[in-house]
Amino acid sequence: MNTGFAGSQTAIEFLYLIASALFILSLKWMSAPQTARHGVWAGEIGMVAAIAGTLLHRGIVDYRWIAIALVIGSGIGIPLGLVHMTAVPQRTALSHAFGALCVTLVGTAEFYLRTPSVPHFLMAVLSMEVILGSLTFTGSLMAAGKLQEILPQRPLTYQGQNFVNLSLLAMAIVVAVYLVLHPDTRQLFPAIIAIPLIFGVLMIVPIGGADMPTVISLLNSYAGLSAAAMGFVLDSKLLIIAGALDGSSGFILSVIMSKAMNRSFTNVLFGAFGQVQASEAEGRGEDKTVRSATAEEAAGILAAANRVVIVPGYGMAVAQAQHKVRELYDSLSKRGVEVRFAIHPVAGRMPGHMNVLLAEADIPYDRLIEMDEINGDFPQTDVALVIGANDVTNPSARSDQSSPIYGMPILDVDKARTVMVIKRSMSPGFAGIDNPLYYMDKTLMLFGDAKSFVNRIVHELSGNTHPH
Ligand code: TAP
Repeated sequence: MNTGFAGSQTAIEFLYLIASALFILSLKWMSAPQTARHGVWAGEIGMVAAIAGTLLHRGIVDYRWIAIALVIGSGIGIPLGLVHMTAVPQRTALSHAFGALCVTLVGTAEFYLRTPSVPHFLMAVLSMEVILGSLTFTGSLMAAGKLQEILPQRPLTYQGQNFVNLSLLAMAIVVAVYLVLHPDTRQLFPAIIAIPLIFGVLMIVPIGGADMPTVISLLNSYAGLSAAAMGFVLDSKLLIIAGALDGSSGFILSVIMSKAMNRSFTNVLFGAFGQVQASEAEGRGEDKTVRSATAEEAAGILAAANRVVIVPGYGMAVAQAQHKVRELYDSLSKRGVEVRFAIHPVAGRMPGHMNVLLAEADIPYDRLIEMDEINGDFPQTDVALVIGANDVTNPSARSDQSSPIYGMPILDVDKARTVMVIKRSMSPGFAGIDNPLYYMDKTLMLFGDAKSFVNRIVHELSGNTHPH
């Protein structure tokens, strides 16, 4: 029996080692579009190895509960995995909420199983686990609710809000410190669950819907840290590694996103962004005129161009226009037009959103050019074709100090010889502000849904048989 145990212990360690290595490779591979698919596979296989190793644990006395949990989990997970691409941020928030709830429940069970003899160090990590788990649970539910527009998107603020929020967090920490010193005070334990649960809600209330993707990646980081703390409690190296990877990658991603929007971290968390802009957008742009064009005219201009840069944005994702865009790319390339795609780091609603959509449509990776690299080429570009992008092309970010997006790096499409913008109306984008690009003499508005408009252009181009 002993030999059998030693054998399975080695198998468990081996599986955990493979899982840890695959998680690290997965993150590495997912950082470039060329290797991203491998990254997804590595993550999935790593997770299977981790689950297999855990199921071999000799501590498991009854597999029936696990089977029930598996059925319930799959019942929830499968429909969640099938959501539309644009709903991925809120779906991710829900995953964090479930993970954090699980961490909190495990921490609570461990506390009550181990009291009254919880060592001080263990109590410290247990408190961290439960506090982070609880606030991530409600915070993530709130974030998902705001993104799904079940909850109001606008930041809700009041005087002294930051003070109230930070005091709540401080209270939870004080209780945790007391528990570390006196781990036998069982009756205090619910406080380090209840206070962070309330904090999680209040923390998200003042943050506008516009900042939710950044907040979600920060919550991802909290969920990772709480899982790492759980690893210490359960003495699981795998959980510590996976939690630390999750925690640090989530944090780095939030920093990258804040930078790409030229916002500081504290401004995202305490700035109540999204409030002023919405009212600013109203009443603007009425006295200015724009020029619009038809698909036929747009096709003619594109066919006559040598160099075209396509700038995709959130609207392309909403319209699911990527396959039509691929047809446009093919059609123009066949005519000898050089077509490239300009990728802004926060175009769309999640990191890598445009890369994923264009890769899905099999557009060659070397045609996708990052913002810093392509910006210098716009003056030599005949046509910049903006498809459902708005904020990431707004020149006021460069020049208008009063603009809420002032300082955000943008794609310099206004420097191209001709600009064409496909969108349905003059409605603002995510930041809720007007875009002076649309009123420039060189700009033509192509009003319509991205998918159907691009389709019409492709149609016109195929009818237009003039050689280039
Ligand atoms: P937005 O500025 O949000 O503009 C998207 C535009 O697409 C809208 O103006 C909308 O105009 C148009 N649109 C919507 N549905 C359409 C359809 N079916 N067909 C054609 N057009 C359609 O998008 P963006 O330029 O991609 O910028 C992204 C914004 O999100 C930035 O402000 C960024 O800071 C923010 N953000 C992004 C991230 C990440 S990680 N990507 C994270 C946080 C925040 P109409 O309604 O007139 O059609």
